Amino acid sequence: MAMVEIRQFDRSFTAALTDITLRSLEAMHDGTRAEVFDNIYKPFYLHDEDPGNTDTLLAIIEAQPEAIWVASIADDVVGFIAVRMNNVDALGEVFMLTVSPAHQGKGVGQSLLSHVETVLRNKGMKIVTVETITQDFAPPAKRIYENLGYDPWPVERFFKIL
Ligand SMILES: CC(C)(COP(=O)(O)OP(=O)(O)OC[C@H]1O[C@@H](n2cnc3c(N)ncnc32)[C@H](O)[C@@H]1OP(=O)(O)O)[C@@H](O)C(=O)NCCC(=O)NCCS
Repeated sequence: MAMVEIRQFDRSFTAALTDITLRSLEAMHDGTRAEVFDNIYKPFYLHDEDPGNTDTLLAIIEAQPEAIWVASIADDVVGFIAVRMNNVDALGEVFMLTVSPAHQGKGVGQSLLSHVETVLRNKGMKIVTVETITQDFAPPAKRIYENLGYDPWPVERFFKIL
């Protein structure tokens, strides 16, 4: 497993995070992209019409920069994780976990999630949750959640474009 260093986000990482997000979205399975990405995923997460336009990611970063952690290997920024904390329910939600395709499969994703669990616990969160699409492109994500002891909830989430 590669030596992964995890640090709190600061603005010097902004360009690297944008690049990683675009690369990892590009690498998604075409079928899933056509079926899910264009109709739901894009308006839900990335509102931009132009896939090269990263305004939404930048807005996410600006909204809660203190809730983002960045992974590096030998000074290369290779992935990041972003969370939201709900203090009423003591619930931490991971809403972005992304590793550059060139560095996937080296334990970066699992290290990021494991790190964030410790942070959330220290901030008084009692539960951590993360959702993923049950499509073929997501097995590594599911594997990480299983490895770290997450239990799946048999829920279906419904979306409608308004
Ligand atoms: C999901 C993602 C963050 C994983 O990052 P990563 O650094 O590659 O993950 P890790 O190396 O820590 O762990 C991957 C695990 O999945 C396994 N895996 C990798 N490819 C797999 C495949 N095609 N099928 C099944 N398991 C697979 C690995 O073997 C490893 O499990 P192991 O430690 O038990 O062997 C990365 O693939 C990514 O950015 N995907 C696109 C965005 C995304 O789907 N994010 C999750 C949103 S919910």
